[in-house]
Amino acid sequence: MNKIVHGNCAEELNKLEDGSVDAFITSPPYDELRDYNGYSFPFEEIATQMYKKLAKGGVIVWVVGDAVLKGSETGSSFRQAIFFQELGLNIHDTMIYEKNGSSFPARRTGNRYSQVFEYMFVFSKGKPKTANLICDKPNKWSGWTTFGKGTNRDKNGKLIAGKGRKPTPEFSPRHNVWKFNTGKAYTTKDDFAFEHPAMFPESLAEDHVMTWTNPGDLVVDPFVGAGTTTKMAAINGRRWLGIDISEEYVEIAVKRMLVASQMITDRYERKYATTTPASTNDKLTHKDISSMKKKDMVDKMLEWQKELIELRKQKKTNGGKI
Ligand SMILES: C[S@@+](CC[C@H](N)C(=O)[O-])C[C@H]1O[C@@H](n2cnc3c(N)ncnc32)[C@H](O)[C@@H]1O
Repeated sequence: MNKIVHGNCAEELNKLEDGSVDAFITSPPYDELRDYNGYSFPFEEIATQMYKKLAKGGVIVWVVGDAVLKGSETGSSFRQAIFFQELGLNIHDTMIYEKNGSSFPARRTGNRYSQVFEYMFVFSKGKPKTANLICDKPNKWSGWTTFGKGTNRDKNGKLIAGKGRKPTPEFSPRHNVWKFNTGKAYTTKDDFAFEHPAMFPESLAEDHVMTWTNPGDLVVDPFVGAGTTTKMAAINGRRWLGIDISEEYVEIAVKRMLVASQMITDRYERKYATTTPASTNDKLTHKDISSMKKKDMVDKMLEWQKELIELRKQKKTNGGKI
């Protein structure tokens, strides 16, 4: 493991042990959008191999878009998703990769809006065994809670008091539309990698690595291109394997892994807006925030109560008028 292989993934995947891959994170050549030096893409054969090599509970992240041919989107991405489902995988989530702009912005006189997204299908072999949801969506109402206790209905329909409501935490899991800036310095800082015409952003690969795998897991990209997935897997302590049919792109990917090894030496660590892991973060945040803001709220309520008592007293002494 931990290598970039020059070859056709239809053959190379065959060499892996069945059920040994924890996650495939990849973007296949789609439609005829780009001619990757004219190589073939036997989708069904490759998808079947990927299914066989995937571990129970493992996931395939399939980043794909459709070309417009003869006035219609091809719909290949949907057909591929259905094929994976028919192989026996769950379509666990249909996520969206939103870009900050389009290579072909819509014209006022055109008939189609600017295309700014691709699908990120997440297929899973049964229930995903790992899902470290990234909790970096800040909550506007952090620290607040609704008043009183919630109610539930029992079997007879009678209202029963629920447990006390927890205050809203500072951060929650992000939504399934992920927006990334693309282009120089955004997709990657490795300028030499832009020789590849269709890299996805490092953050996209990294966020999937962090979500669906744990350190030590095996991450494979059968269409590794410039090595984005393998770089992100390596710097986050995962085992990795990348395959590409183009010798030119393999060279770039290998160079990219040298950058990764320097980053590992420099003790790279991915930090999100919320630095503590989701499970413990929840507890800490609830506790911290509830003790801090609730106290403020109680103080304010006592203040109001005092004012009200004062007002009532005044009302009594003024014969009902304030
Ligand atoms: C969309 S690009 C992947 C880019 C990659 N995600 C990155 O960030 O650099 C698809 C890649 O698939 C490779 N490819 C096409 N057919 C292949 C095959 N049968 N086996 C392995 N790689 C193939 C192409 O050379 C191309 O680099």
